Amino acid sequence: MTLRPPSKLPQVGTTIFTVMSALATEHGAVNLGQGFPDFDPDPRLQALVAQAMRAGHNQYAPLAGVPALLEALAEKIERCYGRACDPGREITVTAGATEALMSAVLAVVHPGDEVIVLEPAFDSYVPAIRLAGGRPVLVPLAPGDYAVPWKAVRAAINRRTRLLMLNFPHNPSGAVLGPADLDALESVVRGTDVLLLSDEVSEHMVYDGRRFESLARRPALAERAFVISSFAKTLHATGWKIGYVLAPRELTEEFRRVHQFVVFAVFTPGQHAIAAYLRDPAAYETLAAFYQAKRDRFRAGLAGTRFRLLPCPGTFYQLADYAAISEEPEEAFARRLTTDYGVAAIPVSVLYERPIERRVVRFCFAKQEQTLDRAIERLGRV
Ligand SMILES: Cc1ncc(COP(=O)(O)O)c(C=O)c1O
Repeated sequence: MTLRPPSKLPQVGTTIFTVMSALATEHGAVNLGQGFPDFDPDPRLQALVAQAMRAGHNQYAPLAGVPALLEALAEKIERCYGRACDPGREITVTAGATEALMSAVLAVVHPGDEVIVLEPAFDSYVPAIRLAGGRPVLVPLAPGDYAVPWKAVRAAINRRTRLLMLNFPHNPSGAVLGPADLDALESVVRGTDVLLLSDEVSEHMVYDGRRFESLARRPALAERAFVISSFAKTLHATGWKIGYVLAPRELTEEFRRVHQFVVFAVFTPGQHAIAAYLRDPAAYETLAAFYQAKRDRFRAGLAGTRFRLLPCPGTFYQLADYAAISEEPEEAFARRLTTDYGVAAIPVSVLYERPIERRVVRFCFAKQEQTLDRAIERLGRV
């Protein structure tokens, strides 16, 4: 007899990203579903990993991260957001943003605590809250521009609220916060004990000359925030699983208590390589122009199709409204797009706890020009 214990996450099946990628492979479709580049990181960065291995950096890294990387991150944070921090006590290197999110939630959310999540949301948020015994409180972003409904956020806060989770530039919509949003956020949390978790993995992908409004810029927000980022997108290396979290000393201490027993430490040669690579700020400062060119190519290519493109101020995702093409629910349409037309996309409805159908799918444009052109040609036939 096989024992089957009661599931801690009974609602969770295989993620939509895995499902759509498998379907794309099966049907030879262009995979614009899961968010990863179809090109490699800079060869110079790859060489730095090999160099770190040859230099003997192959054993456990310190729990918090390799000191050279922590220092490089502190410099980057100060350069980008004007925040001076103590690398030894306020930054921790993590196994991607996913581990940072999970460890932060496990560190501060107690059974019965409420956690506010803005939907649509990255798929790991709600399971992390449930594993911690917390209760997700879901607040949908505004239809159309995916703006934060600050009134609704304020109304969702009560004395059980432990944490508010934010993700800007937003996956899947690309929405970004402006200074007025940070003002509103300051006002919403002032006088409360609510902590913040800001998932900023697409921090360097903000377009059309706009400035990225990291929570790290505002002392009144940073003093209660876990600010999380990842090298997955910034360095085209989703498979390396190296990220980091910036948080005030007290929050970092709690974070590390969990991180220590989740992974203890992160891939040592990668940390050394990234530390050396970040010495040149071009490593991240050129990213917006690089992806803006891809966004513009993709949008121009789809302009003549029946898809209606939503604004894309950030991230490497483009949302497309297909109401003029079909009345099918999003998941059925995304599957048919893959099987019948050969382009995989992500139905946005699955990124809500209770699916909200708006006839919108997400395409990832982190692809080589020929991949994008192939997808454009196929989508033109829809
Ligand atoms: C919003 C968001 N958060 C977190 C992650 C996970 O990042 P990582 O691959 O560094 O774990 C992703 C990856 O797609 C993401 O889009």
